Amino acid sequence: MRRARRTDGLRRLASETTLDKHDLILPLFVVSGTNQSVPVDSMPGVVRQSVDVLARRTAEIRSSAVLIFGVPDDCEKDDTGSAAVRDDGLVPQAIRALKAERPDMVVITDVCLCGYTSHGHCGVLTESGEVHNDRSIALLGKMAAAHAAAGADMAAPSAMMDGQVRAIREALDAAGLGHTCIMSYASKFASAFYGPFRDAARSAPGFGDRRGYQLSPANRREALREAMLDEAEGADWLMVKPAMPYLDIVSDLRAGSRLPLAAYHVSGEYAMLKLAAKAGVIFEREAVLEAMTCIRRAGADAIITYYAEEICRWID
Ligand code: PBG
Repeated sequence: MRRARRTDGLRRLASETTLDKHDLILPLFVVSGTNQSVPVDSMPGVVRQSVDVLARRTAEIRSSAVLIFGVPDDCEKDDTGSAAVRDDGLVPQAIRALKAERPDMVVITDVCLCGYTSHGHCGVLTESGEVHNDRSIALLGKMAAAHAAAGADMAAPSAMMDGQVRAIREALDAAGLGHTCIMSYASKFASAFYGPFRDAARSAPGFGDRRGYQLSPANRREALREAMLDEAEGADWLMVKPAMPYLDIVSDLRAGSRLPLAAYHVSGEYAMLKLAAKAGVIFEREAVLEAMTCIRRAGADAIITYYAEEICRWID
C-alpha cells in the first residue's frame, strides 16, 4: 500500500474526497438594535450582530453561503412567536442587507419558532403545555414565506414538526415563491451538543426538553424514515444534525436518497474543537480540516459550520 502513498502528488491523485470553500455554509446570528456586535461566550469567535453591522461586514464574508438565525430581544417574544412571521422582521432585514451587497450569496434561513417564543419551544403550545403540531406548521409556513419574499434562496425548517415541509412548500407556492428551495433539517436529534447555540440564540426551552419532537440519538432507522417523509413532502435538500457523532446517519441518507445532503457541525462540536485548541491539546487547523473532510467522506455535499470563515482562509 505504501508505494502509492509515497509523495504528496501521489497522495493527492488518489484522494477520494475534496473540501472546497463552496461546500461550506456559515451560520449568522442577527440581533435587534444598531451597532451591536456581541461575542458569544460559549463560542469563541462567534458574534451576535445587528443588521447595520452585518451590512457593513457583508463584503468581507468569504463564505459563499450563509444560514441566518434571528435572535429577538426578550421583550419581542410572546406565546406564539409572532415576531417570526413579520415581513419586516429581523431576518427579512438581514436577507435584504446581504442580498443588496452580494446578490450571488446563497442565503438560507432557519425556520423555527424557538428563538421567538417566550417559552422557548419550537412551536405554539396547547393548554396542557404540549407543542401543537398543526398550528405550529401553519406559522412556520408564514415565517418561511416572509423570508422568501425578502429574497432568501432556501428555507431551512428545524422545528421537527410533522408535515412542516409540506406546509412550507404550500405556503411558498401560494405566495408565488415557487422558486424558493427547502433545506429540511430532516434528521435532527435531541442533542446535548446544542448547548452553546442556545446561549447564542437565547432559545433554551423554559421548561421540559425537545425529546417530544426531535429524534432520539439511539435511533438510526427512524432518522431515515424522517428523511424519506420530508423528501416525499417536497424537500429539495436534506440535513443531518449534529454531524460528527452522526456520520452513520449521513452515510445512510446518502445511500437512501438522491437529494443533496447537508450536515450541521453544531455549536457543541465547534466549542469542543475551539477549547481543545486553546488548551493546546490539538492542532486546530489540522483537526478541523480532518473533521470536515470526514463529514464530506461520509456523504455530505455541504457542511454548515461556525468554522466556515476560518476554513476559507486556510484553504483559499
Ligand atoms: C432551532 C435550532 C437549534 C439549532 C439550530 N436550530 C437548537 C435546538 O434545536 O435547540 C442548533 C445549532 C447548533 O447547536 O449549532 N430549533
